[in-house]
Amino acid sequence: IHDKFKTFNKAYFVACGTAYHACLSGANILERLTGIPTFTQVASEFRYCDPIVDEKTMCVFVSQSGETADTMAALRLAKEKGCTTIAVANVLGSSISREADHTIYTCAGPEIAVASTKAYTTQLIVLLLLGMYISQALGNENEDYKRIIEGIASLPQHIENILKDEKTFEHYASYLKDLKDAYYIGRSLDYATVLEGALKLKEVSYVHADAYIAGELKHGPIALIENDITVISIMTDKNLVEKTVSNIQEVITRGAKTLVVTNQNIDDKMFDTVIHIPETNTFISPILSVIPLQLLAYYISKEKGLDVDKPRNLAKS
Ligand code: M6R
Repeated sequence: IHDKFKTFNKAYFVACGTAYHACLSGANILERLTGIPTFTQVASEFRYCDPIVDEKTMCVFVSQSGETADTMAALRLAKEKGCTTIAVANVLGSSISREADHTIYTCAGPEIAVASTKAYTTQLIVLLLLGMYISQALGNENEDYKRIIEGIASLPQHIENILKDEKTFEHYASYLKDLKDAYYIGRSLDYATVLEGALKLKEVSYVHADAYIAGELKHGPIALIENDITVISIMTDKNLVEKTVSNIQEVITRGAKTLVVTNQNIDDKMFDTVIHIPETNTFISPILSVIPLQLLAYYISKEKGLDVDKPRNLAKS
C-alpha cells in the first residue's frame, strides 16, 4: 500500500459511537499532516448519503469488535465503489479485518466493559501513527515526528499519574452525583474529546450531556445556560486557548459552574475547578485529555451505585 498513498485524493473515516469519535481525531490529524482532503461519516449514515468515493479514495473503518453491522455495510459499499479500505480493529480475525484490504490491529486486549475506554486510547494512537506513516510515505519529513514518538512512549507514565489522582475524582463525583445536565465544549481536536466525554457521562452515569464546538455556543446552545448549569471544557491547543476562555467567560456570566481540563497555563482562579494534565504535542493531547472525562463518568456512576461496566440498554457486538 506504501506506493498507493500518492494516488489518493480524498480520505474517509467511518465508524460508530466511540470509534467514530476516534475517527474525528484521526481525520483531523491526517488532513493536517498530509494535506489530503479528509471526511468523516457515522457508519449508519454512510450508505444513505451517497458518498462521492472512488478508486482514488482511501476509506478507514474503525471498530473495536470488528463486527458492527453499520460499519461492515459501509465497508462493503466503499469496496463496491473501488476505494482502498483500511480497517482499524481490535478483535483478531473479526469480519472487518477479513473483508478490508488492509487491517491494523489496536491490540488493546479483550474488551470486557461496554464503555470502550481502552479501545478508544488505542484507536487514537493507531490513527495518529497512520497519519504520520502516510505523511512520511508522501515524502513529508517533519521534525516533530521524533518528538511525537517520544511523546507516545511517555504516555503510560502520564496516564498512570492521572489515574493515581483517584481521590480528586471521587471528590468531584460526590458533588456532581445529582447532576441532571452537563454541557461539554472544545475546539478542533478537543471537540472530538468532549463528544466522547459527553457520551461516557450518558452511557455509564445516565446524565444528560451534550457536546458543542465552543465557537457554536453563541449560535444557540447558550440559551440553555443558566445558574448552576455545569459546563465542562477542554483546552489543549495553545492557539485556541484564548478563544475558548472567552467562550467560558460567557457561560460564567450566565451563572454556569465550570470545570476545565487543560495542559495550558491559564488563570485557575477564573474557573470553579481546573484539572491540569501534562503538556504534550497537540496531536497526542486527546489521548490524555479524555481520561479525566472518563474518570468523571466512572466515579459519578459508582457514586450512584450503577454498574459501570454494563450500562442499561447497551449491548456489545
Ligand atoms: O465495536 P465497535 O467499535 O464497532 O463499536 C462501536 C460502538 O458501538 C461503540 O464504540 C459504542 O459507542 C461503545 N458503547 C462505546 O461506549
